[in-house]
Amino acid sequence: MATSTSGWTERGAGTRAIAEAEKPAPLDAAAVRRDFPILDQAVDGRPLVYLDNAASSQKPRQVVDAIGMYYLRDHANVHRGVHELARRATEAYESARERVAIWLNAAGPHELIWTRGASEALNLVAFSLGMARVGQGDEIVISEMEHHSNLVPWQLLAERNGATLRYVGLTDNGHLDLDHMATLLGRRTRIVSLPHVSNALGTINPVRDIAALVREHSGAVYILDGAQAAPHLPVDVQALGCDFYAFSGHKMCGPTGIGGLWGRRPLLEEMPPYQGGGEMIEHVYPDRSTWAEVPHKFEAGTPNIAGAVGLGAAVDYLDNVGLAAIHEHESALTRRAITLLAGVEGLRILGPAETEERAGVVPFVMEGVSAQDVATILDTQGIAVRAGHHCAQLVVDRYGVAATTRASFYLYNTLEEVDRLAEGVKTARRILYG
Ligand code: ALA
Repeated sequence: MATSTSGWTERGAGTRAIAEAEKPAPLDAAAVRRDFPILDQAVDGRPLVYLDNAASSQKPRQVVDAIGMYYLRDHANVHRGVHELARRATEAYESARERVAIWLNAAGPHELIWTRGASEALNLVAFSLGMARVGQGDEIVISEMEHHSNLVPWQLLAERNGATLRYVGLTDNGHLDLDHMATLLGRRTRIVSLPHVSNALGTINPVRDIAALVREHSGAVYILDGAQAAPHLPVDVQALGCDFYAFSGHKMCGPTGIGGLWGRRPLLEEMPPYQGGGEMIEHVYPDRSTWAEVPHKFEAGTPNIAGAVGLGAAVDYLDNVGLAAIHEHESALTRRAITLLAGVEGLRILGPAETEERAGVVPFVMEGVSAQDVATILDTQGIAVRAGHHCAQLVVDRYGVAATTRASFYLYNTLEEVDRLAEGVKTARRILYG
């Protein structure tokens, strides 16, 4: 079945632009929490405080129900059958695509390719666009802020095609050094790929200004890794000025194993397939094949149908709460966390200063003790955080630390939980400093 575009204009960009311009009503975290039964449990006798959202978010009942109902009522393979269940499964799969594409303000559903997550989305574009556009002596610009999903695929491409990888440096308080970036851009720059929000620092990058910089100094294709932004900020891919946008479902209340790559249609049409198999072909001859239209050209094999359905339900859920309200709520949690943690002796917080806007990610280092030990003591108090390099080894190297302990917030976290975090960190300090 062809992707439906009916009603696209009516339900697309206009309504989102209006919604974003209004000041959001405050988010009711208590009501939100009722949709997440997993949060209502004790760990070591203390109520669970889940602050590992940058690694993966929890799922509301609505998402779990949508996946359950799909399997209990509608499942069959997509795009292949003439029977009722095949029709329903195809409709569920493609209408989820349309739903998520509207949410991103894509020009149409054909611009959204389903992938396993942001990592696969970035691998897809690195492999396929790399085949089409990057050759010997060309340059690819990324930054020291990348998590490995937006670094290793470009290393592989550079190695394969004889290109050079250039890294934008970071300022002391966790921003991309844009003056340095301007010196890296030039006529050999084919690709610029950067994070919208840093998973290891919480920095919200000025991605629209960067788009202007990229256009001014190069003819490069501009790619954004939205893994940490799409769950937390209103995203309008057309307004951002990028050419591709990658994101993961599991960080935004959706299931694991599903995510997407948005891309501008002319680029998607120019790019060769990423994987071969069923679904992505038009005709197969003994000596060659021709390709299906985008996005199907990039979706070989039976896709993650239930994952797409679950991600569609997650987007409905987030839209209902409102991304602007979620961002305001997380900003309040982040400000409180930074204020309280800054008062703990010997604690260093990485990333933008407390007065600057940042996403709900607070990485910190307790002088002289291991980040893992701090996280382990927090766990004994029911507080879940991540410790390590957060799959962003260049970031911890840049700031001269081996690892950080990272608290990361989402829509269901509360100010009381931030207070528990601060108390937990003080307890860890007492224990570790003896
Ligand atoms: N990139 C993910 C994180 O920040 C896995 O934890």
